[in-house]
This record gives sequence, structure tokens and C-alpha cells, in this order.
Amino acid sequence: MLKGKSVLLRQVKRSDISYFLKWFNDSEVIQYLCLYLPMTEMAEEKYIEELGTTRAKSDVRFVIEVVEGASTKPIGNCGLHEINAKDHSANFGIVIGEKDYWNKGYGTEAARLLINYGFQQLNLHRISSAAFDFNERSIKLHKKVGFREEGRLREAMFKNGQYHDEVQFGILREEWRGL
Ligand SMILES: CC(C)(COP(=O)(O)OP(=O)(O)OC[C@H]1O[C@@H](n2cnc3c(N)ncnc32)[C@H](O)[C@@H]1OP(=O)(O)O)[C@@H](O)C(=O)NCCC(=O)NCCS
Repeated sequence: MLKGKSVLLRQVKRSDISYFLKWFNDSEVIQYLCLYLPMTEMAEEKYIEELGTTRAKSDVRFVIEVVEGASTKPIGNCGLHEINAKDHSANFGIVIGEKDYWNKGYGTEAARLLINYGFQQLNLHRISSAAFDFNERSIKLHKKVGFREEGRLREAMFKNGQYHDEVQFGILREEWRGL
């Protein structure tokens, strides 16, 4: 478990499926993600199963819980995906699925915990990420935690009836150390 001031990151449990189904079937949430088909219980069960088997060494996923007094509440998830043992690289992903918890700094704190884990525990050299050009909150988060904008995939993503640019980000271990 990774503990911050207002949030903690914990391992995924099978019982989290109900949260994942709620978050990943919410059109307001998934408008910002690559997901576009309804998320099924079977698909989530399979993904969770794979986290403990075929993806065990290439995919780390945490549930984000907000600390509220003596209790905690799951509000989203984040992870490092496609961890590459040769290049020491991975892809970053984050979703606060509980919309009432957007814009309160929890995403930024969770991202910092996760990136620190990637560099300090997984010995990563580089973490990549991406966001749609209209996702201003996510773009702000990436810049706040130290990602650099590295380019744009023009009209790479079709969402809500039109094509959007995908903004590419990256952060290197030395840049993180310097922050
Ligand atoms: C993107 C996401 C993870 C950010 O987490 P969060 O907890 O809501 O964000 P934070 O509060 O930590 O930071 C958001 C920042 O964006 C800023 N922001 C919000 N709306 C903005 C807008 N329209 N334009 C510019 N900045 C904006 C906030 O002011 C804040 O910056 P500040 O701390 O300097 O004031 C979360 O909102 C989320 O999960 N959204 C839906 C799914 C998603 O977009 N995932 C990322 C896919 S790349």
C-alpha cells in the first residue's frame, strides 16, 4: 500500500468489480478514456484475473482511496501498464471514477505516489502517458506532476462525433529526481 496525505493506493481486490463497473460505464468518465464499449462484468473479471497471472509482471494497478477521518473510500484507480523490463519504461493511467471527487487534488496526489513508486521501486527510467486535447484537467495534472509534452498525434482519436488530437507526455527518472 502507498500512503499519501489525503489518498492511499492499495492493491485491487475481486470485490472492486462493482466500483469498476460503475466508473467504466459512466459516460461522463469514459469520454476522457480510450474505452468506448460498455464494460462488462466478464471483461473486468478477466482483467483482474490477468493482473495476478499473465499481466503480473507487466501491469500494476492500484485502487485510489481517499482518507476521510478514520475511514477510506475508493474513488478511482491508477496504474503503470506495459512495463518493459529491457527499456525500463511503462505507460501511466489514472481515473477518478467518483465525479464528486474531481478537482480536489486527489488525482495529483495519487499520480505523484504512483510515479514515485515507478521510479523508486520498479526502477523505471521513463514513464509515458497521453490525454485527449480537450481533457484540460488531465493535461494540467500531467504538467503539475512533472510530465513534459512530447508531441501530438493529430486527429488520432474519434470521440463524440469528431476526431481529436492525442497529447503525448513523458517523464524521465532524472527529471522526477530533480523535482
Ligand atoms: C483527470 C483526473 C485524473 C484529474 O484528477 P483530479 O483529482 O480531478 O485533478 P486535480 O484536482 O488533482 O488537478 C486538476 C487540475 O486541473 C485544473 N483544471 C480543472 N478544470 C480545468 C480546465 N477546464 N482547464 C484547465 N485546468 C483545469 C484544476 O484547477 C487543477 O489544477 P490546480 O490544482 O492547479 O488548481 C480526474 O479528473 C479524472 O479521472 N477525470 C476523468 C478520467 C480522466 O480524464 N482520466 C485521465 C485520462 S488521460
